[in-house]
Amino acid sequence: MKKDLLSVYDLGLEDFKEIFEKARHLKSLYKEKVAYAPLKGKTLGMIFDKSSTRTRVSFEVGIYQLGGLALFLSSRDTQLGRGEPVSDTAQVMSRYLDGIMIRTYSQQMVEDFAAFADIPVINGLTDLLHPCQILSDLFTLMEKQGTFQGKKIAYIGDGNNIANSWINAAARLPFHLALACPEGYDPDESILARGIREAQEGIVLHRDPAEAARNADVLYTDVWASMGQEEEQEERVKAFQSYQISSDLLSLAGKDAVVMHCLPAHRGEEIAEEVIDGPQSIVIDQAENRLHVQKAIMELLM
Ligand code: CP
Ligand code: NVA
Repeated sequence: MKKDLLSVYDLGLEDFKEIFEKARHLKSLYKEKVAYAPLKGKTLGMIFDKSSTRTRVSFEVGIYQLGGLALFLSSRDTQLGRGEPVSDTAQVMSRYLDGIMIRTYSQQMVEDFAAFADIPVINGLTDLLHPCQILSDLFTLMEKQGTFQGKKIAYIGDGNNIANSWINAAARLPFHLALACPEGYDPDESILARGIREAQEGIVLHRDPAEAARNADVLYTDVWASMGQEEEQEERVKAFQSYQISSDLLSLAGKDAVVMHCLPAHRGEEIAEEVIDGPQSIVIDQAENRLHVQKAIMELLM
């Protein structure tokens, strides 16, 4: 049976272990310039309905390094963009390709695609979720802090796709998740309810960012207006004013706390310039690890 990665929930404990171990191994091979091509002759289609820097480059370079080939498919230039049904596209693609990565708006589209495809489908971000990002972030935390087990991760800001995927992860893995979101910008209601029910160490939603940040091991944030919400930018900037990761907020966290952001960032909005460029920031390492973790995911699924 083919396996998809549409949400963190698609992974069992063995899968997490395998992805993290494999990512570590692949990263060391890469650093030592040792060639390793388990996906020789395989092809990955990459459907993009939204912009991307990290996801596109890391998947494309990643499959190349594993011996395979990536095809960049902008929906603007394919028949999907002209209304060809997802069901037909998914079945046809399954006859050409060995895997598909999709970045789009609707989570339902990715689920529908996976239902009709015979090949693994990887969620490269939807309005609802961004599982590859959170897997890379957890791997980065293991590198930086030895483990994520028992740590307090504080997510400050918009209850968006990144927040939702953090909640999914906290329902499966043993860390504390403290979120702080302004009223009206909470994470997805059913994802939060399930997360709280299934949390390994606890998930708490605060209004006050200081409550979430206090003694945290990680301060994490993301943009206040995600892709597709550009028109709400102005009202969001007002609503989120007191949710910036500033030096003051960081001073409430543990002394060895790290600062994370999935990027791209709006400096001076969700994160202060001196914080994102400061010594506790590990945002570039997070981005780097997208390559190694997604290579592990592709090797596992394809
Ligand atoms: N973090 C992330 O997914 O970045 P891109 O939008 O550049 O792919
Ligand atoms: N929440 C952001 C994440 C970008 C990687 C967005 O969806 O635009």
